[in-house]
Amino acid sequence: DMIEKGGYKHFMLKEIHEQPQALLNLMRGRVDGNHGPIKLGGLINREKELLEAKRIIIIACGTSWHAGLVGEYMLEELVRLPVEVEYASEFRYRNPIIEKNTIVIAISQSGETADTLAAMRQAKGKGAAMLSICNVVGSSIAREAGSGIYLHIGPEIGVASTKAFTAQIAAFYLFSLYLLLLKNKDYAIPPEMISAIRTIPDKIQTILDREKEIGEIAKIYKDTNHALYLGRGFNYPVALEGALKLKEISYIHAEGYPAAEMKHGPIALIDKNMPVIFIATKDSTYGKILNNIEEVKSRGGKVIAIATEGDRKITEKVDHVFHIPETSGVLIPILSVIPLQLLAYHMAVLRGCDVDKPRNLAKSVTVE
Ligand code: G6P
Repeated sequence: DMIEKGGYKHFMLKEIHEQPQALLNLMRGRVDGNHGPIKLGGLINREKELLEAKRIIIIACGTSWHAGLVGEYMLEELVRLPVEVEYASEFRYRNPIIEKNTIVIAISQSGETADTLAAMRQAKGKGAAMLSICNVVGSSIAREAGSGIYLHIGPEIGVASTKAFTAQIAAFYLFSLYLLLLKNKDYAIPPEMISAIRTIPDKIQTILDREKEIGEIAKIYKDTNHALYLGRGFNYPVALEGALKLKEISYIHAEGYPAAEMKHGPIALIDKNMPVIFIATKDSTYGKILNNIEEVKSRGGKVIAIATEGDRKITEKVDHVFHIPETSGVLIPILSVIPLQLLAYHMAVLRGCDVDKPRNLAKSVTVE
């Protein structure tokens, strides 16, 4: 058992630590040169549909749905295509409007989630072109889509998804660059956009090397009954994912919210016992997030901030800060989620929970 877990105590911890290598595997053979091309062999024969695409609908469940939200922001920002993200379980029971030139992308680690598969069939029946982003090769969802992007990150066994999340985001990044090149044959990807993704594995490693700092924070808050995760922009899905990780494996009630929505409800929950985890990296919403932090502090809340390296200003405003390396805006979620995965893991272990097999949850939900 210990051998299977590569010397780690749990599959989840092993998979968290595998992320630098997982992303290298995902990029292997796909990222060439400093300006491209980006090779995505699974999309060969789909160029015409992708060129004509006017709208993208992303369908997924759970953590994959959170990665889909990041994908939405990314595709809209980089490619300027309108994107919607839907819970597969909702999409399948609506009468969704699928116009000509709509591409539906199903995201699934396992490739076996029943709701996602059913939603794909519904979209296909209405004439949508299908793609998938899956980890498991030959899975039902990958076969149903016919084409797509495989993550190539090896099996994920821990019930709480970790490496699949960061890999799905990286896949969306490569897909965005691929579409930019496809739409404009003369386009040269700025070299910094390529180096941004190439340097991500090492940056993840520097975070993992400081796992102890997160362990210390976990010790302080392990007995809390509630936690609130707040982020804006690209870090809003990360707030959702951080909260999901915590509730899945530690059974602590946690909510993720877009930070500015706090004043429409969650602010009522804040007291001196409430840890609030802010993802407050230096991006376009940084100034706004600082205001949100002040609102929480002035009500006595305890603030843990995930901040950008070198940000000392924030250290004075919060109770705990964990710094992550700088990266390009759209890739921040890949880094900002890592400390939240570790925080959930350590809180759960300190509470004596079985992190690889949390109660009532399954690795893949193959029934409705
Ligand atoms: C279950 C798992 C989650 C996963 C979700 C979607 O709830 O416990 O970790 O995110 O299913 O699974 P999929 O394989 O479709 O990504």
